[in-house]
Amino acid sequence: MDKFQELMVNRRSIRRYTDRDIPAEDVKLILEAALLSPTGKNSRAWHFIAVDDKEMLEKLSHCKGYGAGSVARARMAVAVCVDVTATETWVEDGSIAAFAMMLQARELGIGSCWIEINGRFAEDGTPAEDMVSELLGLPEQIMPLCFVTLGYPDEERKPQNLEKLLWERVHIGSFHADQCLGE
Ligand SMILES: Cc1cc2nc3c(=O)[nH]c(=O)nc-3n(C[C@H](O)[C@H](O)[C@H](O)COP(=O)(O)O)c2cc1C
Repeated sequence: MDKFQELMVNRRSIRRYTDRDIPAEDVKLILEAALLSPTGKNSRAWHFIAVDDKEMLEKLSHCKGYGAGSVARARMAVAVCVDVTATETWVEDGSIAAFAMMLQARELGIGSCWIEINGRFAEDGTPAEDMVSELLGLPEQIMPLCFVTLGYPDEERKPQNLEKLLWERVHIGSFHADQCLGE
């Protein structure tokens, strides 16, 4: 297996973390990966808010009814935000940056998980993006897309199984319904 394939196979979502601090140079490398990622028309309209304050992480974990609990357990969460007035590819740009950080984290032995904000709701029905924007002081045009939680894993996850890849979703030349609909 080459190094990149190893990263892809071994990266799994980590939702339980130890208290161990992430060294500053590793945080820098992870944020650097985000800043190196490509954007539509090279807009580079993202903003990354790195949060390590435990009280703030706890507050942010309530931005949606379920699925954000690991934000409170993480040693750090990076809110991936994009200026929606500066690009129409804000979801794509933010997504690529988020995944770049996840892969860089994995290479450093640091666990991560994507926590969706966009289009989600808190338990009381408040849009998750409103709660996050208020807590982090985001200007109106800066939209939070997701968090990337970070920390040293406190759980074991199995690598992906290459035998279980959905190769039937890969079509050569044109779409072949019989490949994916089982006809
Ligand atoms: C767009 C997107 C949104 C996700 N949202 C959440 C989330 O809100 N909370 C969570 O715990 N995991 C979330 N995940 C992680 C997925 O559940 C996870 O990647 C998927 O189950 C595959 O598992 P793996 O990452 O361990 O391979 C999200 C992943 C993606 C790509």
